[in-house]
Amino acid sequence: MATKHILIVPGDGIGQEVTAVGKKVLDSIALKFGHTFTYDEALIGHIAIEATGNPLPDESLEKMRHSDAVLFGAVGHPKYDNDPSAKVRPEQGLLKMRKELGLYANLRPIKLFDELLSASSIKPEILKGADILFFRELTGDIYFGEKGRKNDGDTAYDVAEYSRYEVERIGRKAFEAARTRKKKLCSVDKANVLETSRLWREVIQKLALEYPDVTVEHQFVDSTAMMLIKDPCRFDVVVTANLFGDILTDEASQIAGSMGMLASASIGDGTGVYEPIHGSAHDITGKGIANPLASILSAALLLDISFGMKEESALVINAVDQVLKQGFRTIDIADANTAPENILGTAAMGEAVLKFL
Ligand code: IPM
Ligand code: MG
Repeated sequence: MATKHILIVPGDGIGQEVTAVGKKVLDSIALKFGHTFTYDEALIGHIAIEATGNPLPDESLEKMRHSDAVLFGAVGHPKYDNDPSAKVRPEQGLLKMRKELGLYANLRPIKLFDELLSASSIKPEILKGADILFFRELTGDIYFGEKGRKNDGDTAYDVAEYSRYEVERIGRKAFEAARTRKKKLCSVDKANVLETSRLWREVIQKLALEYPDVTVEHQFVDSTAMMLIKDPCRFDVVVTANLFGDILTDEASQIAGSMGMLASASIGDGTGVYEPIHGSAHDITGKGIANPLASILSAALLLDISFGMKEESALVINAVDQVLKQGFRTIDIADANTAPENILGTAAMGEAVLKFL
């Protein structure tokens, strides 16, 4: 029996709806196993800008630092997407949080629940058995390098930068994970063009000497994008830089049927942050139809990684599996075979999972 303090950071759009469900699942686990989970909430993103002018108020950051884990929703608002001149943006809150908390490793497990084989736009025979664990580096690269304008604003630049140390620490995490899985690691870069990628490859090659039991393959990002769709089962653990990882994991979400299914863990030096990979999805916000399973599966990752509660975590994943086996779907994972009465909204899908717990 443990006592843990969890910070709920719903953020924007459907972040509010899905984290409410994730929290209920955590509550139910606490009750079942006799743990005490206490909660607080903090602001980030567009709603934080509205309330304080700052996408990540100091108060939120302090609360994050003093929590045992963070269950995160999403950030973003359409009003900024078409306004390139906006100086203050919701995403800055997310990036600052990652940097300040030292969350350099972003784990994105891509696992297809068998019941969702037909929900993907990829052929079932190609998908069956796909199980990939992405390690996306999260606090370096072109995201955090110097950026700006020159020539009276007519030229813009974003600098991509990596240090040996940054590549090595994410590389190590990926090698360690590969050891507990199929012992296959694919390192993705663009070493035929980019200097940062050549350093990346050099560091991974050197690390590989320390992990002779892991088979390492180096792939260019463009061909990886192709292979993910052509033959997803060839991958086990994938490690890559921030921007490549951002793009490849959205692509890979289609292997799991829907972006609404994918959870992620951001870990590093301090408090771990657990969040769906889907964004704020303002097109469906407030409609009560968002898929809460990514938030629920993020809660499962939180239990496992930050609290070491393996049994609790496995129970949550099993509950999601059971609900899918029963035929229940949210609209994003429904297909022609789904009975209309089995298409559930956000809250009802949450209740279905809670029933199994
Ligand atoms: C993600 C998102 C973020 C990113 C955005 C919202 C800044 O796409 O977590 O994948 O690019 O990292
Ligand atoms: Mg992304």
